[in-house]
Amino acid sequence: MKLSLYHILVSVSLVIEPIYKVNGELKVGNKAPIPIPVAGPRKIGNTVCLPDNFLQADLDPTPFNPVQSYSIEKFDESKYIGPEDKIDEDVEALLKTLTVEQKVGQMTQITHTMFIGCDGTMNKTAMEYYFDKYSIGSVLHYAHPIKTRWSYWSAERYANFTNTLQEYATSKGAKIPMIYGIDSVKGAALIRGAVVLPTGFNIAATFNRSIAYEWGRITAKDTRAGGAQWAFGPLADINTQKQWARNFENFGEDPFHNGEMVHYSVKGYQGDYKKDRTRVAGCVKHFIGYSSTHNGKDQEPRYIPMNELMEYHVPSFQRAFDAGVASVMEAYAATNGEDVVASNMLLRKLLREKMKFKGMMVTDYDEINSQYLKHKTAKDAVDAAYITLNQTSVDMSMVGEGKDFADGVIDLVKKGKISESRIDESVRRILQFKKDLGMFEQPFSDPKLIETVGSKQDIDASREFVRESLVLLKNENNILPLKQDENVLFIGANVNSTSYLCGAWSFSAIGPTKIDGDTVYQGYGDTIASGVEMLTKKPINWIQGYDIYGNRVSDYDEIVRLARKADKVVFSFGEDTLTEVLADIETLNLNPEQYNIVERVAKETSTPITLLLVQNRPYSLGKLSTYADSIINVGIPGAYAGLPIAELLYGKFSPSARMPFTYPKKDYQAAVKYYTPIWNEYKPEFAYGAGFGYNNVTYSNVTVSSNELRPGKPITVSVTATNNGKMEQKETAIMYTTQNIRHIHAPERMRVRNFDKKILAPGTSATFEFKLTAEEFKFWTAELNHILEGGPVTITINAGNKNAVKTQIELYKD
Ligand SMILES: *[C@@H]1O[C@H](CO)[C@@H](O)[C@H](O)[C@H]1NC(C)=O
Ligand SMILES: *[C@@H]1O[C@H](CO)[C@@H](O)[C@H](O)[C@H]1NC(C)=O
Ligand SMILES: *[C@@H]1O[C@H](CO)[C@@H](O)[C@H](O)[C@H]1NC(C)=O
Ligand SMILES: *[C@@H]1O[C@H](CO)[C@@H](O)[C@H](O)[C@H]1NC(C)=O
Ligand SMILES: *[C@@H]1O[C@H](CO)[C@@H](O)[C@H](O)[C@H]1NC(C)=O
Ligand SMILES: *[C@@H]1O[C@H](CO)[C@@H](O)[C@H](O)[C@H]1NC(C)=O
Ligand SMILES: *[C@@H]1O[C@H](CO)[C@@H](O)[C@H](O)[C@H]1NC(C)=O
Repeated sequence: MKLSLYHILVSVSLVIEPIYKVNGELKVGNKAPIPIPVAGPRKIGNTVCLPDNFLQADLDPTPFNPVQSYSIEKFDESKYIGPEDKIDEDVEALLKTLTVEQKVGQMTQITHTMFIGCDGTMNKTAMEYYFDKYSIGSVLHYAHPIKTRWSYWSAERYANFTNTLQEYATSKGAKIPMIYGIDSVKGAALIRGAVVLPTGFNIAATFNRSIAYEWGRITAKDTRAGGAQWAFGPLADINTQKQWARNFENFGEDPFHNGEMVHYSVKGYQGDYKKDRTRVAGCVKHFIGYSSTHNGKDQEPRYIPMNELMEYHVPSFQRAFDAGVASVMEAYAATNGEDVVASNMLLRKLLREKMKFKGMMVTDYDEINSQYLKHKTAKDAVDAAYITLNQTSVDMSMVGEGKDFADGVIDLVKKGKISESRIDESVRRILQFKKDLGMFEQPFSDPKLIETVGSKQDIDASREFVRESLVLLKNENNILPLKQDENVLFIGANVNSTSYLCGAWSFSAIGPTKIDGDTVYQGYGDTIASGVEMLTKKPINWIQGYDIYGNRVSDYDEIVRLARKADKVVFSFGEDTLTEVLADIETLNLNPEQYNIVERVAKETSTPITLLLVQNRPYSLGKLSTYADSIINVGIPGAYAGLPIAELLYGKFSPSARMPFTYPKKDYQAAVKYYTPIWNEYKPEFAYGAGFGYNNVTYSNVTVSSNELRPGKPITVSVTATNNGKMEQKETAIMYTTQNIRHIHAPERMRVRNFDKKILAPGTSATFEFKLTAEEFKFWTAELNHILEGGPVTITINAGNKNAVKTQIELYKD
């Protein structure tokens, strides 16, 4: 790594006494961090805030010289590696040395912005105060859109910051390393220069478990490079309400498919996190029911019958637990009338007793206080803390900015209202969590990881993930691929933007501020326009047409004239980089202005139309789905998606992705799922599992190892796919089953039982083999029995596509 003039090499002047381990015992010693010198932020004086329009480059001028490629030691990850019941003796011994105040401090998580002045410098007064007086156990990156501007740092500077916090944590108060948590949900996208990877929707659309793993691994590595040991991901929420603002973050609507992607991404995040210091603790979220909001708005109540919760919501969390996820985050607001953060049923009976989760649990942001601030389920902060600790197994409060939680709980313990043993239950899990992450051996970051952040290797991987995630949904008359010599007119605000490809949870929770815009991605991403230019080697023919909200910004007559002259037109639709309540919508309808220009081009020209849907949500296409000759669902594909999108348009590869959720036609279908009861309407715009490639792939008849399926006697289902085309095809096969009859509880239309993906060279075939067990047909009744019913079953391969094939078997109860 090259050092610039900005680098000031100063030796560490603090006296530090971190805790480390000798022969399995935790000790306090002198293991100093390897200093990570950084270019200091421009000093404007201690109390003078940075102006609104300062350039991010001035805030952190650390030069950025990532390596091309890197290799990291591999550990054996084949066995279960995750939290256990057993707490180590040294952890128990450490717990015994702590005062009540120090224990409660360990249960407290406050935001990083409390340690950064508005001048962008580290506030050591605040560090001294919180670690000395409160022994704060954890700090979180608060992805606040304005405050984040003061801390949108390179991994190098980030590590310097987290290590500085750690110097205080390990030398003050209880001298226990703090754990640093961050919303790294698609790459370490809150750290400048880290590759912003595609969002959960895109990863699910790949139907490639190795991609889910690699996505998690890169995210973990860059998070660790910045000195954070804990990532608040992945999401195991399922996409049940299409209007909900956060569906793009999760892995779609199917419990099995979602669970597989959760499982492999957890493995990627964590690896052998008890040995491998390039990984982080994952935090699966949001437990439970968050996504099924009654009106599609964020943090609204959910009413989910328990049999439905068990059937569809629980499995993906269980897969995260099977993968050894170290922590879980509870969900905002209320499920079935109970505040989740206060629910004994959800956070003790279901989570701990039924699902046997052993790891540590954190709340969502300031959620304990929401009980009195918002939900009126508690009278004040102390009452709220009491309820949560008395009723649930919550271990850590993501407090945010206040001290009420710590002060309140200390008081509750002193008054005997909360027993010290309840506190110990949580602190034990927190200390074991820290120990498992190696924090008592080495609380400081590994400076060697910094140079891997933003490496070409990760950019290439990101582009590969994007290629496998773009869903081709329509291609009449083989309008696509485009040809190099065609005059193609591109229209849409997000054609020339990296920010709109990255979406939310990049830079901040809601993307860059309007002041920063795309400048924060300069050097760390491309655009659809630059991708097209890289590929065609000529300037793109682009007119903006409408802004990101669909409002007209260009002369529409001019667009129609340009479209008439063009060989093809590509319209790109998008959405602002928002999430949570700020991204609430009240209809899936498109802005009429945006709709109208497509209609005009369709009616007033004969130029073929392609739609690129670069969106968080399935906006209703109405007649546009017939006006368009071809449609591609792009999702939110990240900073390096421009080139892969261009490659798809120009036929450099054949698409292989499938829809991870049902794309409704109209608002009234917002709650549509493909596994609706068999007699119920299922007439969406695009089905779950829809998507095809440029090659004509045909399927053989389905064969089964036996026509009879019985408990304990799995069968094998086989089908052969043939690529009749001229290009390589990465082919996704999805196996669904349908029980033709089921008494009392109507069978679902279909359920996904497995999927796989194989590479087919032109003219070749490959056989997919899936195991199918009778046990998979067990379902939850209204009385919460988990039962199996026999009868005829249809097996369908690729139900969402024209080349679907079927067979019939008989299922027996015993
Ligand atoms: C952070 O960087 C400053 C300036 O280079 C340096 O003095 C300090 O030692 C560094 N701290 C850590 C913990 O790396
Ligand atoms: C630093 O933190 C202290 C204690 O929280 C606070 O009083 C002070 O205003 C902060 N300084 C700046 C520059 O933000
Ligand atoms: C919760 O409060 C009740 C009533 O005071 C008490 O009996 C129970 O032990 C408490 N539970 C916990 C886990 O503290
Ligand atoms: C895209 O935006 C950049 C920065 O605003 C501008 O310099 C560039 O000319 C635009 N590209 C096209 C094709 O208009
Ligand atoms: C695909 O190939 C098969 C086998 O050659 C052929 O029967 C079928 O008509 C083709 N389908 C399309 C849509 O071209
Ligand atoms: C599939 O089965 C049907 C009916 O049994 C038969 O007519 C057809 O030839 C079979 N197709 C292939 C590709 O084996
Ligand atoms: C799945 O993803 C991995 C990792 O990117 C890649 O190596 C592999 O070729 C992909 N497999 C298929 C069948 O697409």
